Amino acid sequence: MADTIAMEAAAAPLDELLRPFSTIQKDWMLITAGSGIGRSEWNTMTASWGSFGTFWNRPCVTCVIRPSRHTFTFVEREKLVTFSFFEPSFKHALQVCGSTTGVTTDKATAASITPVLLEPGAVGFAESRVNLVCRKIYSSDVDPAGFADESFLENYPQKDFHRMFVCEIIRAYAKKGSLK
Ligand SMILES: Cc1cc2nc3c(=O)[nH]c(=O)nc-3n(C[C@H](O)[C@H](O)[C@H](O)COP(=O)(O)O)c2cc1C
Repeated sequence: MADTIAMEAAAAPLDELLRPFSTIQKDWMLITAGSGIGRSEWNTMTASWGSFGTFWNRPCVTCVIRPSRHTFTFVEREKLVTFSFFEPSFKHALQVCGSTTGVTTDKATAASITPVLLEPGAVGFAESRVNLVCRKIYSSDVDPAGFADESFLENYPQKDFHRMFVCEIIRAYAKKGSLK
């Protein structure tokens, strides 16, 4: 990926690359975990819930994944998780990755995206505008006992409560054109 710059999180212009209230919710992201780029070595899924911020003084991405997702198994198993962000022209690819399961679908082929091993244990995509390589530092199940209002239960007709993962941003891989 000759058109990509790798930056330590502290040196990366994260505020320029990502917008806290629209990049995840409006543009969506791919959450990927795996040990290699072979068909069965990684899995990815689309997510539109999550946040950028600070935890334990570290720059973090927080995401929520239902245990029913195939990706859940990979995120649980691996130490690193990659969050990938795309130009709007890739919305269809993200729709595909959010409406098919890696159990039965080769998402790289179906979505026309190319998995790349960014570093050992971190799989991202060649087409991404930004790939964030992150280290899981905390996880915890969403507990309905903590819901402020019963209406939030409407998100869980199957009672498949998300697991929340707080992931420290280690490195940002950004396409040269994404940097101002
Ligand atoms: C726009 C969009 C946002 C989504 N956000 C989430 C999310 O934040 N958490 C989650 O668990 N699933 C989310 N999903 C659902 C998964 O992406 C979807 O179930 C996917 O098919 C799982 O693939 P897998 O079984 O290969 O892991 C979202 C789907 C779409 C289309």
